[in-house]
Order: sequence, then structure tokens, then C-alpha cells
Amino acid sequence: MSHILVTGGAGFIGSNFVRFVLDNTAHSVTVLDKLTYAANTASLEGLPASRFTVVQGDIADADVVDGLVASHDAVVHYAAESHNDNSLDDPRPFLDSNIVGTYTLLEAARRHGTRFHHISTDEVYGDLELDDPNRFTESTAYNPSSPYSSTKAASDLLVRAWVRSFGVDATISNCSNNYGPYQHVEKFIPRQITNVLIGERPKLYGAGANVRDWIHADDHSSAVLTILERGRIGETYLIGADGEKNNREVIELILQQLGQPSDAYDHVVDRPGHDLRYAIDSTKLRTELGWTPRFTNFADGLASTIDWYRDNRAWWEPQKAAAEARYQAQGQ
Ligand code: NAD
Ligand code: TYD
Repeated sequence: MSHILVTGGAGFIGSNFVRFVLDNTAHSVTVLDKLTYAANTASLEGLPASRFTVVQGDIADADVVDGLVASHDAVVHYAAESHNDNSLDDPRPFLDSNIVGTYTLLEAARRHGTRFHHISTDEVYGDLELDDPNRFTESTAYNPSSPYSSTKAASDLLVRAWVRSFGVDATISNCSNNYGPYQHVEKFIPRQITNVLIGERPKLYGAGANVRDWIHADDHSSAVLTILERGRIGETYLIGADGEKNNREVIELILQQLGQPSDAYDHVVDRPGHDLRYAIDSTKLRTELGWTPRFTNFADGLASTIDWYRDNRAWWEPQKAAAEARYQAQGQ
């Protein structure tokens, strides 16, 4: 049994991971989270107090981080500023949390010899053409487009350097776009579901031909746990579930599942530098560690996600107006 420190555990994917670990293992979990606008402590309600604690703090604060990293067997590092649109508006917090925060954690892991797993994104690889037969693999060259993805790329490279130069016991995973419960309403899928639920029309950037490779957050969690337990130190694993869909298809499916005409959405101004397509080849993770995704039918996973937002209005309603005000200021 291990004691795991989960940074960013009050956010979307981190909170799903915490629940997954407590439900499926005997490990105990401490969440370290700054509780930014993106966090929601309601995502962690009902978890067993005997195996679970939350500490509010900044991963860039060396004093807070040092004691926590020293007293845990492993760190799983999710904390980050995570939204591309915000990074275009104000990049600075992305540098502080994603780069300096990761550096601060790595230094503590180095001092205390703590196992470290770094959570990253496929966006570090830039984008693919729609008709490119190749998908991203662990050997694809880094080519990030946005302040968000460039700070995540920087954090990955720091982890690689701390493995090579200082012998930190680290692994890295780069995952494709996640969907599922507890995702902030600023993100694509929850924004459109909650728009329909409040009687607003979904908003599609540009023509909506952009492709994302969707994976359910629970499948991301099972992959991370697999890598934490059996991954080879120093290695990178790509996580994906063969879920490519373009944004137009996703909006049409959401409208259809909510009983609306499938063309009842608005085209809004496109994101500057908008990546065209992401696609993951997760062969290494599947063959080397025997991982497979459980949510292989996107329409079913989306339907249960829609049910969750319908049943949990109190979780998202307080954040909705502020998120939409930010979009309105950007013409989106
Ligand atoms: P999120 O924005 O929902 O949650 C991020 C959490 O980190 C929040 O709880 C926030 O309070 C916390 N945080 C931010 N800065 C912090 C700091 N300085 N100190 C402590 N806590 C801080 O993000 P998410 O979508 O759950 O993403 C989590 C991780 O997964 C990120 O590293 C992201 O790059 C990565 N990722 C996300 C996706 C996706 O589809 N959302 C895909 C692949 C990888
Ligand atoms: P997002 O959830 O922001 O994730 P990422 O930028 O990390 O891929 O967006 C997913 C896709 O949806 C992306 O191509 C941008 C697009 N999008 C819209 O079309 N409308 C929206 O309202 C939002 C938020 C995103």
C-alpha cells in the first residue's frame, strides 16, 4: 500500500484519478491543489476520510511542496493551467504553474528520492493534417503551438532532464483530449452540454473540421495507474483510445442526444493558431504494459456524461456565467 500525492486533484482529470485510485486500490491519497478558478472541491465530496486528505497550496511554493513530497511514496502531477483559450489571453500563469511548478516538484522529488509521474498532453506534438496517415508516437518531434502547449512541452523536457541528469525516478504520459464528469464548463464538451441545458446554442469555432482524439477520463486514470505501477523509469507513454471525431460531429451528437435539431448551433470566431488535428498511437502502452481502454463507444460515453451534467447542475451552475463572460469578451 502506498501514499500518493496527487497535484491538481481538485481539477477535472485529477479528481477522476483520485476517485479511481480510492475505488480500485488500497493506496491512500493526498491532494495538493491551489484551488484556482478551475478547481471544485465538490468533485472530491464523499471520499473516505481515512485514506484521503486535501491540502491547499501552490506547486511553485518550495516550502509547501518539500514536506509533502518527502512524506509520500509517489507524486502524480496533474496540476497545471490547462485551457488554451486562457493561455492566449494571459500566458503568465501558465509559465508559473506549468514550468516553475513542475521544476519545484522535480527538485523535491530529487531531494527525497520520490517516484514521480508527470501528466502531459499530446498537444506538445503540434498538429496533424486531416489526411495524414500517421498518428503521434513517443518519437514524434515536439512542435507546440500555443502558450499552453509550449509550457507543457517545457515541463516534459524538464522531467526528462531531471531523469537523465539527477536520476529522478520519473515517467511521463501524454494523453489526448479527455471527456467525462467533473470537467470545467469552459472546455468544449461541457460548454456545449450546459449551453443546451440552459437554453443557449452551442458554439463552434470556425468551420469545426478540427479533430480531437477523445478518451474517457476513467480510461486516462487506468492508464496512469498502470504506468505508475509498471512503467519503466525514464520512459514516455502515449495514452489514447482511438476516439477521433471532428468538432462539428461532436456538437451534432450532443444536440441529437439532448433532443434538439442537429443544426441548432452557432459558428463563432475561430481560435488563433487553432490546432487542426490530434491523433494518438498508443501501441507502446498497450503492448508493453497490457493496458486497454474500457470506454470504446464514444456515443455511449457522451450520453453518460450528458446525464451527469443534467443530474449535477449545482456542481457547474456557479461557474457557468463567469466562463461565458470570458468567452463573450473574446467574441466566442
Ligand atoms: P483542470 O484545469 O481541470 O485542473 C487543474 C487543477 O490544477 C485545478 O484544480 C487547479 O486548481 C490546479 N492548479 C493549477 N495551478 C496550480 C498550482 N500552481 N498549484 C497547485 N494546483 C494548481 O485541468 P485538467 O483538464 O484536469 O488537466 C489536468 C492535467 O492533465 C494537466 O496537466 C493537463 O495538461 C493534462 N491533460 C489534460 C487533458 C484534457 O483533455 N483536459 C488532456 C491531456 C492532458
Ligand atoms: P478544448 O476543450 O478547449 O480542448 P483543446 O483546445 O485542448 O483541444 O477544445 C476542444 C476543441 O473544441 C478545440 O478544437 C476547440 C473547439 N471548441 C469549439 O469549437 N467551441 C468551444 O466553445 C470550445 C471551448 C472549443
